[in-house]
Amino acid sequence: MPQARDPAHSPTILLIGASRGLGHAMAAEFLKKEWNVMGTVRAGSGRTLLHALADAHPDRVEIETLDITRPDEIDALHSRLSDRTFDILFVNAGTTNPDPTETIGEVSTGDFVNLMVANALSPMRVVERLADLVPPTGLIGVMSSGQGSIADNESGQREVYRGSKAALNQFMRCFAARQARTPRAMLLMAPGWVRTDLGGPEGRLSIEESVPGVVNVLLAKQGRPGLEYLDYRGRTVRW
Ligand SMILES: NC(=O)c1ccc[n+]([C@@H]2O[C@H](COP(=O)([O-])OP(=O)(O)OC[C@H]3O[C@@H](n4cnc5c(N)ncnc54)[C@H](OP(=O)(O)O)[C@@H]3O)[C@@H](O)[C@H]2O)c1
Repeated sequence: MPQARDPAHSPTILLIGASRGLGHAMAAEFLKKEWNVMGTVRAGSGRTLLHALADAHPDRVEIETLDITRPDEIDALHSRLSDRTFDILFVNAGTTNPDPTETIGEVSTGDFVNLMVANALSPMRVVERLADLVPPTGLIGVMSSGQGSIADNESGQREVYRGSKAALNQFMRCFAARQARTPRAMLLMAPGWVRTDLGGPEGRLSIEESVPGVVNVLLAKQGRPGLEYLDYRGRTVRW
C-alpha cells in the first residue's frame, strides 16, 4: 500500500469560498489527493460543510474568514497569512443577481453594481492582494464560467451574470498580461453547469461529475506558465 503523505510535507491550497457547493467539494477533493486545505467562509456563517471537513481532517484543514466584497477583510487576511505560502490560490466565491432572468435593460443599477462588485471586482482584489503569498512558480486561479465566454454566447440568458464573468475574464487577462514573462501559472475555470444552490436543480452535471475534473485540471496546470481559460475536462474555452 502506498505511504500516506505527511501533512507537514504536503502542498497547500488557499481556497476562497469553501463553505458549500463547488468550493466545499473542491476542498474535499484536494484532501483526497493528500493536499492541505486552507478554506475561507464568511464570518458569522456558523457551522458550514467546511467545518465538518475540518473535523474529519484536523491535521489538513484550516478555516479562515473572508467576505470578498470587504477590502478591509482582504487586508486583514493578508496580514494574518503574511508568513505563509500557498502552492495554489483559488478564488471560487461568486454569486448571481436576485432575478437572473432580467435582461440588461431591466436590471436595477443596485443589482448590477452588486453583482459586478461580487463577481468581477472582488475576486480580482483578492488575487491582487494575496498574490504574494504564492511563489512565482505557483498557480493562481479563479472560478469563471462558460457563461463568461463572449464567443460562445449564442443563446443570451443570465445576461448580467454573463457580463460579470466576462468582466472577470478580462481583468484576469490584464493581471496575466502584467506578468507575461514570469513562470506564474494562471487559470480561469469553467466548471460546467452544476446542480448547486447557484446552478439550480436543472444543471446538467452533479457536483461529483464536475469537481474531480476541476481539481485535475488545476493540478495539471501547475508548472504551465501563463493564463488559460479551461473547462472541467481541460478543454480550452473560447474567449
Ligand atoms: N453551479 C454552476 O453551474 C456554476 C457554473 C459556472 C460557474 N460557477 C461559479 O462557481 C462558483 C461557486 O458556485 P456554486 O455553484 O458552488 O454556488 P453556491 O453553492 O451558491 O456557493 C457559492 C459560494 O461562494 C461563496 N460566496 C458568495 N459570495 C461571497 C462573498 N461575498 N464572500 C465570500 N464568499 C462568498 C458562498 O459563501 P456563503 O456560504 O457564505 O454564501 C459559497 O461558498 C461561483 O463563482 C459561480 O459563479 C458555478
